[in-house]
Amino acid sequence: MLGTLLLVACTGDKADSAVPGLLVTFPDDFLWGTAVAGFQVEAGCPTVAAEVCEDRASDWYQWVTDPELIAENGTYLSGDPMSSAPGHYELYAEDLALAADGLGTNAFRTSIEWSRLFPDAGAEAAGTVEALRDHADPVALAYYHAYFAAIRAAGLTPLVTLNHYTLPLWIHDGKACHADPLGCADRGWMDLERMRPAIALYSAFCAEEFGDAIDLWATENEPLAIVLAGYLLPSPDRTNPPGIGDAATAFSVAFNLIEGHAAMYDAVKAYDTVDADGDGHASSVGLVANLVAVAPLDPESALDRAGAVDADYVYNRLFLEGAINGLLDRDVDGVAEESRPDLAGRMDYLGVNYYTRITVRGLSVPLFGYPKFDFYPEVFWEEYPEGIAEVLALGASYGVPVVITENGTMSPTEESGDTFLRPHVEAIRGAIGDGVDVRGYFYWSLIDNYEWNHGMGIRMGLYEVDPVTKARALRPIGQTYAEIIATAEREG
Ligand code: BGC
Repeated sequence: MLGTLLLVACTGDKADSAVPGLLVTFPDDFLWGTAVAGFQVEAGCPTVAAEVCEDRASDWYQWVTDPELIAENGTYLSGDPMSSAPGHYELYAEDLALAADGLGTNAFRTSIEWSRLFPDAGAEAAGTVEALRDHADPVALAYYHAYFAAIRAAGLTPLVTLNHYTLPLWIHDGKACHADPLGCADRGWMDLERMRPAIALYSAFCAEEFGDAIDLWATENEPLAIVLAGYLLPSPDRTNPPGIGDAATAFSVAFNLIEGHAAMYDAVKAYDTVDADGDGHASSVGLVANLVAVAPLDPESALDRAGAVDADYVYNRLFLEGAINGLLDRDVDGVAEESRPDLAGRMDYLGVNYYTRITVRGLSVPLFGYPKFDFYPEVFWEEYPEGIAEVLALGASYGVPVVITENGTMSPTEESGDTFLRPHVEAIRGAIGDGVDVRGYFYWSLIDNYEWNHGMGIRMGLYEVDPVTKARALRPIGQTYAEIIATAEREG
């Protein structure tokens, strides 16, 4: 029943227990999970050959391994070899046991890598799901079938992201577009005419092929992170390919991602016809958005307060208004000038990644000529547990159930279980008490992984991974998570 998540309305009976003095408990079918993404964990196999273990057909593989890109100032690439990643492609059975038995979780978020399944450009012209099958890499196909079966056999409900940043090189040549954004041939999210049918067909294929194992799907991961780190402001914090800075391109990519989500949603709905967990619903399809809590730098300053309101709009609402309500505000002035019913109503649940509160200074002259871009984030990274309740309320204000699809600390210490994890979980409990329909919490991440441009330089795992031996070791925060889950189950 765990997968019943998303189409069944929350009864709210747990929330009703929010009477002073009574403990608000987590719903019995609450998803307690951990999250990973294919690109970040698969490489680094101890014995499987690197050319099989690594997905060399993806734009991100090119981005982090190309010597010229690594040498270039402004790409902020660590240069860590992919062989230093945790080797989940080979070691997933061990990792799933750590998640299920070691932590006591009941759910697991992972991704399918489009480029692993369809490494060759011929896939783009396939046109139909049946024709596309001829282009699927047989080794990858067998891998994903075995992988999803193993997740379920471990007692974990799979939540599968169809696109966690990475794209096949045949549709996105990040290096070429980095050098020449307008002239490159394979332009990824800059080229909606190619991207929409291609990603919809890939999604349809996955839904048909793996729908008997998966009911819970996410289309895209963190579209705004793609826009910010890929097209607007690549920074030491994050650079995504193609790593350019052009506001007009960035906003057009944001709206292309909204169109992409709708196309992927429709594809999964049409092609996942199997109810894997027997709850009466073949699929629940959402999007994973990174939402932030926002504060004004000086609460006494009207300019800063206005900047904070607009930062909330640009970071949190601009995209969701399009993806959930079909309302597009292309000139970012706070008023949607386009209503698109063909994009609206395609959100069975909202996945929320919550990491940070940003503190903004208001600007009297907006940036890039976009009226609502009248703020500057002075503080971009602040762990702020109460903020998770703020973003949950924000997500719920769109009238859909919410799942925390990622939350984690960049610097797990001996104390993080108490200083980071427990306060976040208690803030979620508070949100449930306030009536917010929260269906699950996925900690990022189960294991240390390849943190994009930082390589293995940032470690976020509940289990520490030795990049050489690949040994996994439980961190104290992992122990705390296991205790939290066990206690919640006793209370529930
Ligand atoms: C992404 C993950 C990433 C994590 C920590 C999110 O941006 O979805 O892939 O590793 O946050 O930075």
